[in-house]
Amino acid sequence: MGLFIWAHRGASARAPENTLAAFFAALEDGADGIELDIQLTRDGVPVVLHDVTLDRTTDGRGRLCRWLLRDLRRLDAGSWFDNRFAGEPVPLLEEVLSLFGGRLRLNLELKDGAAARPVLDLVRRFPRAEVVLSSFNRRLLRQLRQHDAGLPLAVLTDQRFWRPALAAARRLGAESLNPRVSLVGPALVAACRRRGLAVVPWTVDGDGPLRRMRRFGVDGLFSNDPAAARRVLRYD
Ligand code: G3P
Ligand code: CA
Repeated sequence: MGLFIWAHRGASARAPENTLAAFFAALEDGADGIELDIQLTRDGVPVVLHDVTLDRTTDGRGRLCRWLLRDLRRLDAGSWFDNRFAGEPVPLLEEVLSLFGGRLRLNLELKDGAAARPVLDLVRRFPRAEVVLSSFNRRLLRQLRQHDAGLPLAVLTDQRFWRPALAAARRLGAESLNPRVSLVGPALVAACRRRGLAVVPWTVDGDGPLRRMRRFGVDGLFSNDPAAARRVLRYD
């Protein structure tokens, strides 16, 4: 078994990030799993979007949390990337669980503190979906753990001093520490190993960084281009 390859926001190098088009592309490209970012609409529905605002990746304006689902769903989340993707909607988490849940592992990154309960309720409706819930927000992760002792969790960190994140991952019973790629080196990998945690860095693209991560012995990684990552990591 090679490294576990997560398609970061879907196969976001060749389709608009966090859309169904990017998730189908990830499936086609042989990713092992899909990473996606979850936030709530004004009416409390979990949807897939990275930024706090809609401006960069849709034709809408302002903060997502001010938009009702019915208005949000009329937006175009594809044209900014390429006209071929015009009309791609902002996906519902429910759609992703239903379409991909039994086919690929899903890494749901919770950006929004209020999303813990609604996401958990939704995930429980899809028992066949294999999920891991990840976040930079440790309070949110603690809430999830209180609700569900067996839920797979992962702790994200972009801090140069990564030891507190590692300790938190241990306390939470997380399966992995997911650090920014620039933080990964022998010390971090060894510390995770000693504590029984997997190491899954983001975002790793390009032959040099991919090979370096393999050399350090990480367990998986997030890539915007899972087809290229597979070529480099498994067939060279
Ligand atoms: O889950 C890893 C990675 O997605 C975290 O950073 O900004 O791409 O959501 P970001
Ligand atoms: Ca993310």
